[in-house]
Amino acid sequence: MMHTRYIKSIFWIQIFFQLISIEVRSHEITNVKLNPHPTPDQLAWLEQSDIGFLIHYNMATYIPVEYDGCNRVPSLVPDIDLFYPDTVDTDNWVQTFVDTGAKYAILVAKHNCGFATWPTNVHFQLTTNETINYNYSVTYSPVSDTDYVDHFVDSCNQAGIKTGVYYSAIWNNWLNVQDARVQPGPLAPGQMPITQETYESIVLQQLEELWSNYGPLLEIWFDGGYSQSLKAGISMLVQKYQSNASIFNGFGLTNNSIRNIGNEFGYANEDTWLTVNDDGQEDPNGNHYSVPECPTTLQVSDRWFYGGADFPIRPLQELIDTYHTTVGRNCKLVFDLAVGRDGLVDQKHAIRYKEFGDYIRDCYGKPLASEFNCSGNICILRFPSTQLADRVVIRENLRSPSGASIRQWSLDGLMMWGDCLSCWIPIPPAKGQSIGNKRIVLFGEAVLMQGIRFNVYSTVGGPPVLAQFDAYLCQ
Ligand SMILES: *[C@@H]1O[C@H](CO)[C@@H](O)[C@H](O)[C@H]1NC(C)=O
Ligand SMILES: *[C@@H]1O[C@H](CO)[C@@H](O)[C@H](O)[C@H]1NC(C)=O
Ligand SMILES: *[C@@H]1O[C@H](CO)[C@@H](O)[C@H](O)[C@H]1NC(C)=O
Ligand SMILES: *[C@@H]1O[C@H](CO)[C@@H](O)[C@H](O)[C@H]1NC(C)=O
Ligand SMILES: *[C@@H]1O[C@H](CO)[C@@H](O)[C@H](O)[C@H]1NC(C)=O
Repeated sequence: MMHTRYIKSIFWIQIFFQLISIEVRSHEITNVKLNPHPTPDQLAWLEQSDIGFLIHYNMATYIPVEYDGCNRVPSLVPDIDLFYPDTVDTDNWVQTFVDTGAKYAILVAKHNCGFATWPTNVHFQLTTNETINYNYSVTYSPVSDTDYVDHFVDSCNQAGIKTGVYYSAIWNNWLNVQDARVQPGPLAPGQMPITQETYESIVLQQLEELWSNYGPLLEIWFDGGYSQSLKAGISMLVQKYQSNASIFNGFGLTNNSIRNIGNEFGYANEDTWLTVNDDGQEDPNGNHYSVPECPTTLQVSDRWFYGGADFPIRPLQELIDTYHTTVGRNCKLVFDLAVGRDGLVDQKHAIRYKEFGDYIRDCYGKPLASEFNCSGNICILRFPSTQLADRVVIRENLRSPSGASIRQWSLDGLMMWGDCLSCWIPIPPAKGQSIGNKRIVLFGEAVLMQGIRFNVYSTVGGPPVLAQFDAYLCQ
């Protein structure tokens, strides 16, 4: 058997590493520093949801395909009459969340063009002294009598999907705002002349509408953040209306902060941590929880708005790999839903997401074994009989006094080796530093074993306490 030969070849290496690990254990640093703990809201967010959605359905759905939103085209103010869908069926969107296994969804209520998909009542003064309604909104479009934020929230509530809203606070082409500042110089066609002060007042009033009218939000999304001059105002509104929401890019604004992983490809480093230092930078020993979120697209080329029926989407295997480089590494996976021009999910997108959801349910639905016992820095997962396994899922109990205390670990399999019927043999790729909320360890091949041993070599702030340690065979 292939496997036996491979095991023999690593036997002496194994002896060597055991000597080393005894050495490491005897020198283990006992650090008295206590780990921080997530807030109750962060815990709820961490525990209930591995996958979320970010819904891109707005004015930019209807602009020429060479643009993916109004981003970096400051003079582009699409004609309001372009926003003219046949049907918008938010239940149809929610079906894809359910099929994918997502538990929360965040709707882009205003993107960078400036168009609002809810009937905003904000009015304001132009520099000409004329007072106008915020009339770049669904109310003034051909489908005037609609509130898409309301439809979205209703559909989600019915399916038990938690909701969030995205409001771009630093871009607004209609109001000639780039990078949080009203731009100097001549206006492009369709743009409204306002002062910086007026802009900031509009942002706060619209956030108040979104945060006070649609129930409690699980997540608030600040793409690119918000300007320092708005911080006090936003902070007040958060406290008043959505103190329980987790906030993407919210470090310094709330204790329920979510950290942006920093890329849009669905990739977290193998060892990804839940905490940050006082500057908001990832740090295993940081004093604050700011849990990472990994947003990514289904369409290729980092495309967020619908690119048309012929725009390529990523293959299933790539989505599965993405799950393992995000959820499997302590990061929440947020998929894009690029709703089509008819207001529905493209069938091709819906099918691909369902294939992905089916894979995850099949693979992780039923563990081979999940009864483990721990003593000190070692936990053992015993199988009812000898079987093939190709991965484990490990989670630390973030509610325990230790919190996320593990800093270095490895896995051994209990298997047959030569004359020995049950020897602990290292599973080569199965070692690392972080566990945290969730770590999925792929062995790269199916291994025949009677059990798995989790060895912890280094901890900070207390002994390891696991919430989950189980094994699967998915190939
Ligand atoms: C707007 O009103 C202010 C104060 O009443 C006045 O000083 C200013 O000249 C007006 N601007 C225009 C363009 O009419
Ligand atoms: C919004 O108001 C401005 C200023 O009065 C006007 O020029 C523009 O045509 C209005 N837009 C719509 C869609 O009503
Ligand atoms: C926040 O959560 C607490 C505890 O569940 C609840 O009592 C409170 O009403 C929530 N606050 C908001 C603004 O939803
Ligand atoms: C965050 O937590 C700290 C420490 O518990 C507390 O002093 C502070 O008021 C909290 N901030 C917010 C915005 O809730
Ligand atoms: C787990 O329990 C078994 C017997 O039930 C015992 O032999 C083993 O030493 C225990 N392992 C740990 C790590 O406590």
